[in-house]
Amino acid sequence: MIPSAFIDELVARSDILDVVSDYVRLTPKGGSYWGLCPFHGEKTPSFHVRPDRQSYHCFGCGKGGGVVSFVMEVENLPYVDALRLLAKRAGMELPENTDYRGRRKRSRLLELNKEAARYFHSQLHSPVGREGLAYLQRRGLSRGIMTRFGLGFAPNSWDSLIQAMGQKGYDKAELLEAGLVVNNQKGRIYDRFRGRVMFPIIDLRGDVIGFGGRVMGDGEPKYLNSPESPVFSKSRNLFALNLAKNTKLGRIILTEGYMDTISLYQAGFDCAVASLGTALTADHAKLLSRFTKEAIICYDADSAGIQAANRAIPLLERTGLKVRVLRVHGAKDPDEFLKKYGPDAFAKLLDQSENYMEYNLRQLQDKYDLNDPVQKAEFAREGAEVISRLDSPVEREVYAGQLAQTTGVGKDALLQEIKRCRSRRFYKAKKQQERRNLTPVNQIQPKARQMRYDNPRSARAEEGILRLLLLDSSLASQVQDLAPSAFSSPVLGKIYDVLLDHLRQGRPLQLGNLEGELSGEQIRLLAGILGQPVALENGAAAMADYRAVLESEQMKQQTTTDEAVLLAARENYRKKKSI
Ligand code: CTP
Ligand code: MN
Repeated sequence: MIPSAFIDELVARSDILDVVSDYVRLTPKGGSYWGLCPFHGEKTPSFHVRPDRQSYHCFGCGKGGGVVSFVMEVENLPYVDALRLLAKRAGMELPENTDYRGRRKRSRLLELNKEAARYFHSQLHSPVGREGLAYLQRRGLSRGIMTRFGLGFAPNSWDSLIQAMGQKGYDKAELLEAGLVVNNQKGRIYDRFRGRVMFPIIDLRGDVIGFGGRVMGDGEPKYLNSPESPVFSKSRNLFALNLAKNTKLGRIILTEGYMDTISLYQAGFDCAVASLGTALTADHAKLLSRFTKEAIICYDADSAGIQAANRAIPLLERTGLKVRVLRVHGAKDPDEFLKKYGPDAFAKLLDQSENYMEYNLRQLQDKYDLNDPVQKAEFAREGAEVISRLDSPVEREVYAGQLAQTTGVGKDALLQEIKRCRSRRFYKAKKQQERRNLTPVNQIQPKARQMRYDNPRSARAEEGILRLLLLDSSLASQVQDLAPSAFSSPVLGKIYDVLLDHLRQGRPLQLGNLEGELSGEQIRLLAGILGQPVALENGAAAMADYRAVLESEQMKQQTTTDEAVLLAARENYRKKKSI
């Protein structure tokens, strides 16, 4: 159990605007901060943060809550881990002792991985590893680079790693947990990596967290990677980021393959990283944005590479990174390009790499036949729509000029079209906003509408009470004697109960420190309630009104129940008489 005083302090030190800004680019508008929702794909912002209420809420997907639930959602963490992350951020130490064993186990696994990497590396330079060394040399890698990346060789044997690690005191269970060995049906274990050149994956702290192993030649699978383990998460780590983070080149090049990254490094581009055989994730993007302002996507030239780039772009953009896309011509991937044309040619490509807008427009252009006047006009219109999404008028002007050149349509006509697209979107957004403002209750009801209120009139008053309490706890004196059981909605009553409890303990009322005691669904509901308009100047009067509504509804309910009891009794009496 984490002491509530600690949680209160932590929440007070974790401003929701700061925290969310680490993940979402926010723009202020009327007391709220708006941005693209990190929980569902969208093009116009329905996600917003209200610093005054320390809450976030998305009209699109219905997610909402306080600072802790935000971290839980966005990092996909359980409650305590979210607290731990926030604590780290706030420079506080989470009071805990149960974690000791977990930490020890972790460091033991990391030790094991390091020993394994040392072993593989030593094999590369022993007679057993001769073919591995020859393979890497054939691929053009120097000895220096092999050492730099800690490359190694796993002998083609069932148990050489098991033997070597056994001598260092590691047992079967540990080898299994690290993913260095596999179980067969009979429960025997054997080395996972056999007859492969080995690429250790090293995290930012310099710890070896996993491996990729490549067959020499044409075997399958071409690459074998360590499975996820307590120390290895593919969606949160990038190959060679431990090196690229120190680059002086001011950008990071994102590749698909280990070999691409290593070749780039050898050619002087010490800023390349690769994902670990999986697609780029939001976590990867976030990680990159900590080390650079500009990401250059340099994937394979095939259609899979283009698709992967298209998926990666929005993820990267969302973190505020400047994104460029570099397409290799005349080679299947950066590694082959460097071999064929050399570093200077690559540097040229790097300079010419397209920014997101150019890339978008060219992708669009590829869909049309510009010799056909009808298609050309269609392209111009669609291009204008794409350009209209740029916020800067200067940038719109520049790209309108470019589009005018490719299509032969006058720049003024294009600018006019762009303007039309913008105002159309503006009015649409405004309408949507108005609709939202007019139908607040609809918004409170969770998206799936599982949470229907039996007595909407009372429920609305109950929500009002919760909202006022959260925004101004001095109003609590007005409801001190109101029991949670008076609430018509059980879930609102439950939330009310928790709020009262906090007040009785003298704890501040904030979404952030309620999140350990309420379910995700309840927090979401509460965030929605909190997001409704409120006039705090008249707080006391509003509180009195809400209470009156609640009590009169309760009375009605009571009367109907009383009547029902009476009716039933009469019925009974009649039955008895007739017997
Ligand atoms: N990959 C994988 N499993 C495979 C094939 C590929 O995990 N069976 C991953 C590896 O991380 C690899 C990346 O996808 O680095 C890109 O694959 P590919 O382009 O085939 O690899 P290259 O790094 O270009 O390798 P090489 O040049 O050695 O063929
Ligand atoms: Mn490749």
